[in-house]
Parts: sequence; C-alpha cells; structure tokens
Amino acid sequence: MKSNKSLHTILPSKYPIIQAPMFGVTTPEMVAAANRANCLGSLALGDLNADKCIEQIRKTKELTDQAFIANIFVHQLPEVNHDLIEHYNTTKLYIEQLAKEHHLDVKIPEFEEIKLNSYHEQIDAIIAENCKIVSFTFGNLDDDSIHKLKANDILTIGTCTSLEEALLLEKSGIDILNIQGWEAGGHRGSFKDHDIPKIGGLALLNTIKEHVQNPLIYSGGVTNARIISAVKKMGADGFQIGSLLLNSEESALHEFEKNKLSSIKEDDIVLTKSFSGRYARGIKNTFIEKVEQSNYILPYPYQNKLTNELRKVAKLNKNSEFTSNWIGQSIPKLSRESTTTILNNLINEIETFD
Ligand SMILES: Cc1cc2nc3c(=O)[nH]c(=O)nc-3n(C[C@H](O)[C@H](O)[C@H](O)COP(=O)(O)O)c2cc1C
Repeated sequence: MKSNKSLHTILPSKYPIIQAPMFGVTTPEMVAAANRANCLGSLALGDLNADKCIEQIRKTKELTDQAFIANIFVHQLPEVNHDLIEHYNTTKLYIEQLAKEHHLDVKIPEFEEIKLNSYHEQIDAIIAENCKIVSFTFGNLDDDSIHKLKANDILTIGTCTSLEEALLLEKSGIDILNIQGWEAGGHRGSFKDHDIPKIGGLALLNTIKEHVQNPLIYSGGVTNARIISAVKKMGADGFQIGSLLLNSEESALHEFEKNKLSSIKEDDIVLTKSFSGRYARGIKNTFIEKVEQSNYILPYPYQNKLTNELRKVAKLNKNSEFTSNWIGQSIPKLSRESTTTILNNLINEIETFD
C-alpha cells in the first residue's frame, strides 16, 4: 500500500482532476481532451471483450501521449440454473412485447446466444497494451489479478460506496480509493447488487478518511470549485468529474440524448435496476416506470444483455423513453464545449476560488 502519499505524486497528470469513466459516453477523444487540460482521462471499457479493449486503448494512444486510466467492470457472475433461464425467457417476451407496443422492432437474443466476458481477459489486454493505471467498479479484483497488475507496475484504483468496501480494497493492496457518493450518476459501484449502501458522499468521505490511509478520489456531484474546495478540506486528494462532461463535444451521446439531459428537473432523477440488473442513477422514462412495476428484472449482467438491443433500436429511433439516460443528482449546467474547455474553466475557477 502507498500510504498517505498525495495523489499528485502518484498520478501523472498536473491537476488531481480525473475525467470519470462513463461507459457509452466516454470516447478516446474525450480521454485525450481531458489529458490536454492536464487532467487525467479515463477510458471506460465496461465489459468489452479483450479485442475491443485493445482497439479502444490503441485508438486512445493515437490521440494522447500521456497516461490515462483504463476502467473495467469487476462483477461476479450469478449461477446459471433452470430458474435463471426461465426468468430470462419470460423477461425477453415481456420486453419484446413492451417494445412492440411502442413501435420499436426488437429481437432479443436467446439465452444460449449471450456472450459474457470476464474481467480477467481485460486485465491481460491492459497489461499487453502497456497501460499504467487501472480503475474498476462493482467489486474487488481477485488476488491473482492484483498480483499481475502490481508485477507490471500498474497503479490500481478501486471504487467503494461504504467503509466496509474501502477496508476490503485497502486490505488487498489497492493503491487508491475512489469514493463514490450516493449523488453520483450512472451505476452504483457497490460490491453487491442488492441491499446496497446508500451513503451520501460527504458522510462517506468523512468516515473513510478516519479509517484508511490510501489516497482518496472523491466522485459524485463534483461540478464546480465550491464542492472541490469543500471535499479537499475534508481530505480528498483527487476529484472525479462525471455528469459535468455528459454533453461535451467528445461525448458519444446523440443530439436527442443531450437535449433530453439539458431539460431535466430534480425529481426526474431516479435509481433503477431496470436496464442492467444493477442500480444506476438516471432520468426516469417509460421503460423504467413499466419495468419497475413488473417482475421482469434479471441479475446483472443478464438484464443488461437483454436490454442491449432495445437500447440500440431506441437510439436509432431517437426515442429517449427506451434508452438509459444516466446522470447524477447535482444536475450541472451541461456545456456543449470540448472536454478540454470545460475542465480548463473548472481549473480557472478553482484557482480563483479560495
Ligand atoms: C453515463 C455514466 C456512465 C458511467 N459509467 C461508468 C463506468 O463505465 N465505470 C465507472 O467506474 N463508473 C461509471 N460511472 C460513474 C462515474 O465514473 C462517476 O463516478 C460519476 O459520474 C460521478 O458522479 P457525477 O456524475 O455526479 O459526477 C458512470 C456515470 C455516468 C453518468
């Protein structure tokens, strides 16, 4: 463990500001643009297979000479049994019917056709591509993976949503902890997918700071210098910026999705398992309302695989009632400028704030 070192001395970027990994939103262009602002970009690799990870990493390397974070999902697969397969089949029928009622022509794959990737192949790809920083969410890496990463001198950043998770990461030798407050947009990084901790960012940072020596990154609602100043005083060493960049020039979101995000109100934002089987924070829509009232939610990653085609078809049809529109509780003013400009503006604000 690298105890009590400031993030500055560990991370290669000039400012301890990290562009959050946002699978489906982050692009290699966004990572390079964050690096151009002297921040640290994160490439979201989600649960992509090794070949796709390599493709994304190489694309990013063509755009930036600086180091960036490779981010992966570390989840446990549920046991496959008769009940799971039956639940999949009934959920498939329900969602195909729901899509049809809303004029979306969706063909969901059969259970046997689903391909699941393990994070182990991603780690091998990341090592082979000579990435130097890995962050992860949804759980902890196994000992073999941690050992492999350390042997290759790769810095590890684990996401935690409770003190218990923070202590587990610390104990297994993870270098830096990413504290994800309840406010954060997108998926909860909790180690389990039910009865998850629901701890606000400041309470969580305060508790973890008292018990853990590792450098701490704070995520969730970081949108301006005021919050950065506050969490810095409380002991955060780095700041992860997610929702603020959703509508940036380099975001993969389509125009209709950016427009939707620009017009939301506080009570439009909900936590839902309906799209992926894991809790995530975003804008409520018809899909969430219908599925939350039903029994048709499978454990992650099966629900995610099952709704994948629906989300794709809804995107093509510019129908945000059936896409997942993740965003955090802070609802920042969403700029269409480049990630570099948004982060440069934030840095200027920080420098004049205190
Ligand atoms: C659209 C979206 C996608 C996300 N995808 C990921 C991801 O792939 N990996 C990850 O570790 N966190 C992911 N997150 C969480 C962010 O990395 C970050 O913790 C969160 O955005 C911080 O809260 P904020 O949105 O209030 O800034 C995602 C968040 C959003 C909004």
